[in-house]
Amino acid sequence: MKEPLRITVTGAAGQIGYAMLFRIASGEMLGTDQPVILQLLEIPPAMNALEGVVMELQDCAFPLLRGVVSTSQPEEAFSGADFVLLVGARPRGPGMERKDLLEANGAIFTGQGKAINDYASKNVKVLVVGNPANTNCLIAVNNAKDLNPEQFSSMTILDHNRAIALLAERTGVHIDEVQNLAVWGNHSATMFPELLSASVGDTPALELVTFDWYRDQFIPKVQQRGAEIIRARGSSSAASAANAAIQHMRLWSLGTRTITSMGIVSCGDYDITEGIVYSFPVTCGAGKIEIDKSRSLDDFCVERMRLTERELLEERDAIKHLL
Ligand code: NAD
Ligand code: LMR
Repeated sequence: MKEPLRITVTGAAGQIGYAMLFRIASGEMLGTDQPVILQLLEIPPAMNALEGVVMELQDCAFPLLRGVVSTSQPEEAFSGADFVLLVGARPRGPGMERKDLLEANGAIFTGQGKAINDYASKNVKVLVVGNPANTNCLIAVNNAKDLNPEQFSSMTILDHNRAIALLAERTGVHIDEVQNLAVWGNHSATMFPELLSASVGDTPALELVTFDWYRDQFIPKVQQRGAEIIRARGSSSAASAANAAIQHMRLWSLGTRTITSMGIVSCGDYDITEGIVYSFPVTCGAGKIEIDKSRSLDDFCVERMRLTERELLEERDAIKHLL
């Protein structure tokens, strides 16, 4: 049997935490041969609720679950962590943009970035889910001075999945047939779900849908899907977000040659400003996220990629005191 790996989840008593922990403990994230220890962080007012979640985890008698730590102390929660899912943050309500949360949530990621730096495994992989995810990830990276920026990423697989599902529905195929789609930029209303390189079966996607549908319906629908769910449910996506976070960590650790989308620290590829956390089309191999550098882009793509880059630069300016 393998040695257990330590997985930290922050905001563990929240909606996404509740939809995620049981699946991680059952082996869906790291495999059904990989024992895990869950290290759950909450703020003091949520510790009672967290104790209830811990009881339910015990009551599942998961064979792979080798321990559960529940704490409100970051140093304890991040201690020796191999994987960290930074979920704990306020969600937006109706009528808000995700960047409206920067003031409330940004500071969380300075302290947690430092604590990860000081207490987690030196090989830790960190995924930021709490919104605005790209810029919170930027804050965490910049506060984890001894770690490699490649150890941090932010979540846009949910947007990627939304885009695949929408295109599959429109073209009347199973989602497996949609390949090579990409979500660029910010997890926000400016994100750019790109179809230029996407295919459906063996056919280029843009031969199956009109450019007007792509520009006027597909892109806005993907951009606004989070808000649409908030309007319908009264609270933000949870099960689909938890699913995406598990998928992101699984692909990152176990590898994939299929293109997906992840927010990572830009090294200047595709001419995107270095240092910002920007979603790129990626594959994963040997525990590393690799940008797909082979895409051709037209003027429409470049314009949309710049727009979302500009928003990320504005967000960075708004929190520069936290970097
Ligand atoms: P929630 O309010 O149900 O849960 C958040 C939890 O975080 C709460 O239990 C709260 O006590 C805890 N928390 C707050 N501050 C904390 C801190 N400093 N340390 C540890 N825990 C803390 O919210 P949710 O629905 O679970 O969403 C969590 C975050 O994820 C929100 O910011 C939401 O907008 C974001 N989100 C992102 C995506 C994405 O695609 N990137 C998708 C869905 C939701
Ligand atoms: C989502 O995309 O569902 C999340 O980011 C929640 C939100 O605020 O839209």
